Amino acid sequence: MDKTNCLVLGIETSCDETSAAVVENGRKVLSNVISSQIDIHQKYGGVVPEIASRKHVEIINIVIQDALDQAGVTFEDIDVIGVTYGPGLIGALLVGVSTAKALAFALDKPLVGVHHIEGHIAANYLEHQDLQPPYVCLVASGGHSHIVYVQDYNHFKILGQTRDDAAGEAFDKVARVIGLGYPGGPLIDQIAKEGNEEAVNFPRVSFEDGSLDFSFSGVKTAVLNHINKLEQKGETYNKADIAASFQRAVVEVLVDKTITAAKNEGVDVIALAGGVAANSALRKLLMQEAKHHGFKVKYPSPILCTDNAAMIACAAYYEYISAKRADLDLNAVPNLRLGESVYNGLNKKED
Ligand code: KG4
Ligand code: ZN
Repeated sequence: MDKTNCLVLGIETSCDETSAAVVENGRKVLSNVISSQIDIHQKYGGVVPEIASRKHVEIINIVIQDALDQAGVTFEDIDVIGVTYGPGLIGALLVGVSTAKALAFALDKPLVGVHHIEGHIAANYLEHQDLQPPYVCLVASGGHSHIVYVQDYNHFKILGQTRDDAAGEAFDKVARVIGLGYPGGPLIDQIAKEGNEEAVNFPRVSFEDGSLDFSFSGVKTAVLNHINKLEQKGETYNKADIAASFQRAVVEVLVDKTITAAKNEGVDVIALAGGVAANSALRKLLMQEAKHHGFKVKYPSPILCTDNAAMIACAAYYEYISAKRADLDLNAVPNLRLGESVYNGLNKKED
């Protein structure tokens, strides 16, 4: 294989974004087309799995063709096809996986299956050309909150994870409770700028000694109880203060545990990934604390924090050059664990 010019077509359909991208040598984005279904799901207050799969089917071919056109390439120019095969919504994942398999078969191109979280982490490589493992990455999205030791491009160790709600899920639920709409993260981020983060002291949950695990269901319930109490007394509350205080409670725990993880692993760099990585308070506090403790911080721009196929193409490239391949029996794995895709070779064969 000519490693000096490897074009990967990435495909991502794990939730409510249909995305296709062309990335050169794992680092240069030639195109990154993202078709979001958010406006459709908004009226239901969350993603409706059946609708998500149907919308992916309707648009996937158009999105792929757009990605090729914007990159100025054809199917023949593509060297590798990379696709998210888990975790995510089964019906949504299947659209991307089936499309990728059909393309790999018809074009006789190698196929690589990518873990969605591995993709989020890889988004950092697209904008930080100097970033190389090892480092510690905080991955916080609507479905996941993980602290990961990125040992190598495709070797990961989970140092901590949520025991209940993901950080983004808590943002979305609290936003719904205070009547902000969906998805809640960006709306809370916005309104919190006008609020007092010390207005209410919401709980910061910690586990037994040294555990880097998270729990966000407690803080979510605390917000709910706080509002219920005020409403029962007929009192009004300031949404911005609630948003800012809730956000501070979540962000403090995320930053505190990530800094501890970086110290424990002896790395120099901390990276952020996933939808919640776009949160301005999280970025600010992490930068502040990292500077204080002597760590460098890297994070992708907001468009690469949310679900997109460029990050999947990047991760697929690093899997590909380490000789990982998927067979045409690759299946969608809705609850795929991060370690499984890299250590056990689930659904993959090495050649
Ligand atoms: O990574 P992502 O696009 O999809 C998943 O894989 O889940 O993450 C979406 C999540 C949502 O919960 C959304 O509310 C949250 O990321 N999010 C944010 C912000 N932007 C998106 N949370 C807090 N602050 C933000 N600025
Ligand atoms: Zn995601």
